[in-house]
Amino acid sequence: MELNGKHIVLGLSGGIACYKAAELCRALIKEGATVQVVMTEAAAQFITPVTMQALSNRPVYGSQWDAREPNNMAHINLSREADAILIAPASADFMAKLVQGRADDLLSLMCLARPIDKVPLLIAPAMNREMWAHPATQRNRAQLKADGAQLLGVGKGEQACGETGDGRMLEPQELMQDLIAFFQPKVLAGHHVLVSAGPTFEAIDPVRGITNLSSGKMGFAIARAAQEAGATVTLVAGPVALTTPRGVSRIDVVSAQDMMAACVNQADQATVFIATAAVADWRPDTSASQKIKKDGSGLVPKLGFVENPDILATLAQSSRAAKGELFCVGFAAESHDLLAHATAKRWRKNVPLLVGNIGPATFGQDDNALLLVDANGAREIPRNDKLALARLLVADIAKRLVKQSD
Ligand code: CTP
Repeated sequence: MELNGKHIVLGLSGGIACYKAAELCRALIKEGATVQVVMTEAAAQFITPVTMQALSNRPVYGSQWDAREPNNMAHINLSREADAILIAPASADFMAKLVQGRADDLLSLMCLARPIDKVPLLIAPAMNREMWAHPATQRNRAQLKADGAQLLGVGKGEQACGETGDGRMLEPQELMQDLIAFFQPKVLAGHHVLVSAGPTFEAIDPVRGITNLSSGKMGFAIARAAQEAGATVTLVAGPVALTTPRGVSRIDVVSAQDMMAACVNQADQATVFIATAAVADWRPDTSASQKIKKDGSGLVPKLGFVENPDILATLAQSSRAAKGELFCVGFAAESHDLLAHATAKRWRKNVPLLVGNIGPATFGQDDNALLLVDANGAREIPRNDKLALARLLVADIAKRLVKQSD
């Protein structure tokens, strides 16, 4: 229930994407929000207020002359009680109206009348690709941003008109993720966070290899939490089938050596490195170019191993880390004696913060418990789902960054 207690005014202007607003309304309510729908006359050509009322469980507003409000000022009442106004879909015409500050229908009137510092306005554009690309629309988009609105992106792909390009409204789930992210405190604004996640896979031959049970879920949750906190995020991911969090750049790698190369490459721009990956400690000393076959003798192939480079230790020893420009955070997946191992690992890796967790209790799970170990001791973050833990960890790291720069 990510939107518990939030009151969202969902504004629909005219466009075929109105059909997605029905699903969005439902999704917002499922996440705990209350939703008040306001529609323009054009929106009602595409989807009926009956549908939106049934989904939101509230009468829909459409006219500035609606006498249901005792003071007859729907535009004031509706905008005062909102935690955010989300216009989805926002048509080209409606964006132009907002830019001009016009107020000839309830939705535009309400946007103009909203307390600009208290009630955020989020815009999800939806239109044909030519309309979107038109200089007038792009000008309006820039002006809306300058006027303090939050411009959400547009999707790319096939459009209802049969053309293909930019301008589709984002999918309901994407809009919801953006709204949830919008409400998170921007404690990492201006930072560039590099996250390593997942297992690595060390090939024995083209069809076999050694790996481990890391699911990558904790690292992906941290990448999402850092992005929600306003950071630019690069996620270097081992072989996992997880969806990339919105707004995060992802680099897929397979082996520890690939992960090392990608992390070293990205670390120049990063201000924070969070090493959640369960990097394989060893790799086979040779990797056969063809599948190793049984020869019928019953003899097993002899495998030799070499140690993989330590990505975290390497970046923690870099000159940027030494100068305080790269804050490194390690993870420790242990099976026992968590505090002792995590404390020793922090020293060994030379990182200011090491996060311990019990590997077998977390690999593949949706929840976890963390032990934060630093120079002053240890603090436990009790068991919770991984996204909640990731947000707490991000908040903790942000505080350390502020202290460090003081
Ligand atoms: N790590 C790394 N590169 C490696 C090994 C580990 O970057 N080659 C990072 C992990 O991402 C994690 C931390 O180092 O942040 C500790 O990883 P862990 O596997 O718990 O420890 P190891 O260093 O491998 O030590 P051991 O296996 O002996 O517990």
